[in-house]
Amino acid sequence: MSTSRTAIHRQPKIGNWQSLLLCLLALALSACNAERRKSDAELGLNPQQAAGRRVYDDQCQRCHEAYSSSDKNGPSLKGMFKRPYLASSGLPANDERVNEIILYGRSKMPGYAQALSQQQVKDLLAYLRTL
Ligand code: HEC
Repeated sequence: MSTSRTAIHRQPKIGNWQSLLLCLLALALSACNAERRKSDAELGLNPQQAAGRRVYDDQCQRCHEAYSSSDKNGPSLKGMFKRPYLASSGLPANDERVNEIILYGRSKMPGYAQALSQQQVKDLLAYLRTL
């Protein structure tokens, strides 16, 4: 009787310890995931798209969200090319219109015709198509 009791007593003790560790691990992982910036490789970006992402980080991300649909100083650009029309302006979601918006700006958005090279705008468009 006393042996079986110790056996029952011991096993759950180890189990609790392990599940506590698992809980801590899961907690740490989920906390990291919420904050962590994905790498270019994790996003599956090719070199051109990755170059466009750097332009985006430098010039656009202070006003636009890329991976969340919440607005910042400008509308979210998440999934912008997945719909036929841009969410905020209602303009057709194609390279020509978005190219114009980037070069000449819109209302409170500055234009980038001077700041970005043609290649940088091309890279940026390639990246925006991945959102
Ligand atoms: C200072 C803030 C700011 C910066 C920086 C900025 N934008 Fe904007 N952007 C805006 C605002 C505000 C609008 C909404 C304009 C309007 O009223 O139509 C906008 C609109 C847009 C739109 C149209 C969205 C829609 O749904 O109609 C696109 C595309 C866009 N921006 C891309 C970019 C890109 C790419 C960059 C970086 C090169 C950038 N923006 C930089 C503020 C900004």
